[in-house]
Amino acid sequence: MSDDLGFGIDIGGSGIKGAPVDLATGELADDRYRVETPQPSTPQAVAEVVNQVLEKFGWQSAFGCTFPAVVQHGVVRTAANVSKEWIDTDIETLLKNATGHDVAAVNDADAAGIAEVHFGAARDKKGVVILTTLGTGIGSALILDGLLVPNTELGHLVIDGEDAETRASAGARENEELGWQEWAKRLSRYYAYVESLLWPDLFVVGGGVSKKPDKWLPYVECRTPIVPAQLRNSAGIIGAALVASSHSTGP
Ligand code: BGC
Repeated sequence: MSDDLGFGIDIGGSGIKGAPVDLATGELADDRYRVETPQPSTPQAVAEVVNQVLEKFGWQSAFGCTFPAVVQHGVVRTAANVSKEWIDTDIETLLKNATGHDVAAVNDADAAGIAEVHFGAARDKKGVVILTTLGTGIGSALILDGLLVPNTELGHLVIDGEDAETRASAGARENEELGWQEWAKRLSRYYAYVESLLWPDLFVVGGGVSKKPDKWLPYVECRTPIVPAQLRNSAGIIGAALVASSHSTGP
């Protein structure tokens, strides 16, 4: 383990998780700590939990955090699966005021994409890589030659007249009690549509379901190679810590 530690917090619709991260290896430097996301998930309530997570580890400096919505230069712009009060909240200032430390905030799927580029399935991949996270919603990260194009929001493509994540997210599978193969048909439709727009070289699939890819990945039909994410559900924490470290060291 190196001395080069960062800290990442992954804010999700159901849980807020954090851990120190070894920035040289991409490994968590301690067990992650998870707190249920307060309901309603208002900015103030979430900020209190973020502070609690930092205090649990005695973390006393800059950190990164993910957020499950568009985050443009530190300002939240959408709120598909969290309290609408977040829209236009400057999350970096809010969390700095709540914790006393500098914060870099990033979309959750973008954080996962950055982590997979550094330490996982997208490492050393040239060309266009699209990472999608399949959870309550569908998140996306578009990466070209290792560089992220932020906030692509490919989970909200309208496909066959419907918001894609309401049909093909892991949440939709659970809510509608779909079998794995039935769900894989919806994923095939989704990935075929994304392919027709962006012609990626590789799809990386993250989210909780990337832990058990054998159940569904073999049934997804698409022309692009498709692989599970490697960092599983730590990708958000790792990506957030990486983003914070690049903020503090500058370009
Ligand atoms: C949000 C995205 C987010 C994704 C996964 C979508 O509903 O619009 O910003 O990345 O869910 O949490």
